[in-house]
Amino acid sequence: MYRALYRKWRPQRFADVVGQQAIVTALQNQIAAGRIGHAYLFTGTRGTGKTTCAKIFAKAVNCLDTSSPDPCGVCAVCKGVDDGSVLDISEIDAASNNSVDDIRDLRDETAYLPAMCKYKVYIIDEVHMLSTSAFNALLKTMEEPPEHVIFILATTEVQKVPATILSRCQRYDFQRITAADIAGRLLYVAGEEKIDLDPGAAELIGRLADGAMRDALSILDTCAGVSNTVDEALVRRMAGVTDRQYLFEISDAIAKGDSVTALQEIAQLRQQSVDMRRLCMELAGHYRNLMLCALPGGEKLLTGTSPEEEAAYAARKDFPQRDAVRAINAFGSALEKMARGTDQRIELELAVFSLTQPEAVTVQQVAAAPAATASPQPFAAGQPAQTYTVPPVVQQSAPPVQADVPPVEESEPAFLQPELPPLEPQPQPQAAPVTPAPKKPRPRSTEPAGPIQPFPQWSAVL
Ligand SMILES: Nc1ncnc2c1ncn2[C@@H]1O[C@H](COP(=O)(O)OP(=O)(O)O)[C@@H](O)[C@H]1O
Ligand SMILES: [Mg+2]
Ligand SMILES: [Zn+2]
Repeated sequence: MYRALYRKWRPQRFADVVGQQAIVTALQNQIAAGRIGHAYLFTGTRGTGKTTCAKIFAKAVNCLDTSSPDPCGVCAVCKGVDDGSVLDISEIDAASNNSVDDIRDLRDETAYLPAMCKYKVYIIDEVHMLSTSAFNALLKTMEEPPEHVIFILATTEVQKVPATILSRCQRYDFQRITAADIAGRLLYVAGEEKIDLDPGAAELIGRLADGAMRDALSILDTCAGVSNTVDEALVRRMAGVTDRQYLFEISDAIAKGDSVTALQEIAQLRQQSVDMRRLCMELAGHYRNLMLCALPGGEKLLTGTSPEEEAAYAARKDFPQRDAVRAINAFGSALEKMARGTDQRIELELAVFSLTQPEAVTVQQVAAAPAATASPQPFAAGQPAQTYTVPPVVQQSAPPVQADVPPVEESEPAFLQPELPPLEPQPQPQAAPVTPAPKKPRPRSTEPAGPIQPFPQWSAVL
């Protein structure tokens, strides 16, 4: 059976654990000095080595070869743990065993001496999932642990672990692994697996994995499944890193106060089944990047971006931070409202539209004021009206018109995957509410050109 690379290449010795030097050294020192604690807490983001280090530590404290703080890998205990015949080391997934009875069973078990090892080790993964009463039961055991018992608790959400438990543990915070460290490990694994991995591709995977080695190995696995030669182009294709140019197009339009282009871009993305909530999150992240790259050295804080995107951000390093902060707030509050069940598309459009308005003018004012004072360009200006699907003034008899958007690619990148089923194709307005586009933008007139017209629903959400 095929074993995923990240399972196959789980480090078996401390020396193979990448990017957690301080933790590894501290654990090794304890083993060398024979000063083993009774409770440890490993916390940090996913895929950074918590379970891996817990397993190595559990083996190391019991390994019969004490000449090094690493498990030897060949003694009866090491072999027995690997083949599952040694039962003194247990891994419990608290996500599925979170009841007080599960923990009581565990407590009863701790009373018995280990069968073969020096220590019984209980690795409780996702410990934050335990119920309150289960935590209380665990606390009782941890208050007076039998000499031969070690608990290793692992969690990605340490803030959900009660303080009473935390105070009894030695805590180790696992860091996100740097792109360079990830790339190094990938090149090693690829070499062993006879995968021809280009160093540039390894570096790109390192950036995309955003600190998680497991994710990095999964991307490599996917790529190697397609071709044994893994280069940057393949990584881009398999990881769904397509051009996120649309984010720049939207923010550039907003910066120019061009609500029409920004809203048309959103309409087009929606037509391609892009989830509006997801887009809203991407825009918030995008403005965060714009905010950061205006800081000296801030580009180092960008995460999950491809080199091309980094170049695009670098080209906008003069982006006004004030505008970036305003946009982050606007998209943040749109997301909050979406979570309360309001129409996702309207919330997103509202946020984008309000950002194209001068800061002093709130959306409420814009909607309430006569159209002439709000002065965005009418929708028809400069663009064919049928690319925009919002206007609700639809003649029911009108046959649906195929929208003028590129077809959705067959291998849709992950962020284009709809979280909701795509909506029925919407009938296009045959007779658009505004007369179709003259080539050059119409001069702003004082007549009520009705820029708010296409959004009569706004009154419902304001
Ligand atoms: N620090 C690391 N060094 C080397 N490989 C790692 C590291 N962290 C994670 N991995 C890889 O990712 C896989 C999952 O890691 P795991 O320790 O289970 O992560 P978690 O922190 O979520 O418990 C491991 O099997 C291993 O292949
Ligand atoms: Mg884990
Ligand atoms: Zn051993």
